[in-house]
Amino acid sequence: MPGLNRFATSLLRTKPVEQLAADGEHSALKRSLGLVSLIALSVGATLGTGIFVVLGEASPLAGPAVVVSFALAALAALFSALSYAELAGAVPVSGSAYSYTYATLGEIIAWICGWCLLLEYGVSVAAVAVGWGAYLNEFLAGTIGWRIPEALAAAPSAGGIINLPAAVVVLIATAVLLDGIKESARVTTFTTLLKICVLIFFVVVAVTAFNSDNLHPFAPAGIAGVTSAASMVFFSFIGFDAASTAGEEAKNPQRDLPRAIIISLVIVTVAYVLVALTAVAAVGVDNVSSSGASLATVLEQVTGSGWPATVLAAGAVIAIASVVLTVLYGQTRILVAMSRDGLMPKMLSRVGRKRIPTANTLIVGGVVAVLAALIPLGELVNATNIGTLVSFGLVNIGVLVLRRTKPDLPRTFRTLVPLVPLLGVGMCAWLLLRLPGVTWLAFGLWSAFGLVVYFGYGRRRSALERAANKAAVAPVA
Ligand code: ALA
Repeated sequence: MPGLNRFATSLLRTKPVEQLAADGEHSALKRSLGLVSLIALSVGATLGTGIFVVLGEASPLAGPAVVVSFALAALAALFSALSYAELAGAVPVSGSAYSYTYATLGEIIAWICGWCLLLEYGVSVAAVAVGWGAYLNEFLAGTIGWRIPEALAAAPSAGGIINLPAAVVVLIATAVLLDGIKESARVTTFTTLLKICVLIFFVVVAVTAFNSDNLHPFAPAGIAGVTSAASMVFFSFIGFDAASTAGEEAKNPQRDLPRAIIISLVIVTVAYVLVALTAVAAVGVDNVSSSGASLATVLEQVTGSGWPATVLAAGAVIAIASVVLTVLYGQTRILVAMSRDGLMPKMLSRVGRKRIPTANTLIVGGVVAVLAALIPLGELVNATNIGTLVSFGLVNIGVLVLRRTKPDLPRTFRTLVPLVPLLGVGMCAWLLLRLPGVTWLAFGLWSAFGLVVYFGYGRRRSALERAANKAAVAPVA
């Protein structure tokens, strides 16, 4: 059945690594990011709503052992980070896991991966923006004694009508991105430093109330509670790979991308474990979870005064906005890669006067703003996690495949194969199984829709398909 064979071959065609790299060389995007900027981009994309808000939602599941949940989630992220680092050093183009799987596992898998990345990046921006809104309200309450009314600060199924602050922060980030990457990278470096200072401030204040009695019982819900919390706080590690979406804007991608990814992960893991431990030990697990702006309320309880919480909220408002900015940026660059390959409309990779993909940025910003306005945090977080875990799993598999298919490809970083990628796949699968059934259902529908788009649009317009057709009709010399 030659027709069926051709069909199967077309689904599994891979984009040659050399071609991916050449695309990067000829990219219209500017190479302006050094190692520090890349670390700032990754840490900036990572430290955010996860630690500032989701910590409060996960603590009741695990008890004080939420600290262990963070460590488990970090481990899952670490194995995958090592795979990311290897691929980022070997295939240094924008597009992240999507480009890596295109080079290794074939077009259909790359498409599925890119489709999952719309959840990892696009939907997570919406989740982060919702967390931002909670801190904005805390800040307003602490400074002018007024809160945005619930109706205008929460999604319909979370007791409101529309989450206006969440939508507005997304639109502001969209405007900043339209102004250019150089400016965005500078803003990101500043806000990332600010965020680290805010978390250090939190730890220093909270540790003054450290009471080890608050750590008992340590894991009241047992292993099941700890792993459920781990699959939730996994959200807080998402973004360490943001540097890999900027391969074409890095000055020295092969050297700097692997370093940036690993250094970022170490920085955020240390920060999370310290913050979670001091928060729980200071006020007890039940009090950590008392409101959306969890860390601010911990400080209120510790100090008995409002100003430390307001200072923290002010920092969080600026800092979480930077996550919105960097993750939104990542999303636009993934779409650039998919569009350049013909799998998404060309308009998404067209760059304007400032070499910014203008239409792409506007569309992504608009869609994410709507999600942020209308969907509650928990659902956004779980949708993000499922998409991310699947794409991380694929990246780990990609490393194994590329070692077989391209053993001699220059690699600036090598992970330990097959052990580490296999552990990465195993950890991702384990956390995936802990996600709720409704998240799986939503993911199933999302994936089915993605396949309809691929077979209805991308497969025939794929640049590889067109190249193959051209080769087939070219006269033999
Ligand atoms: N890791 C990012 C955050 O926690 C998505 O906000």
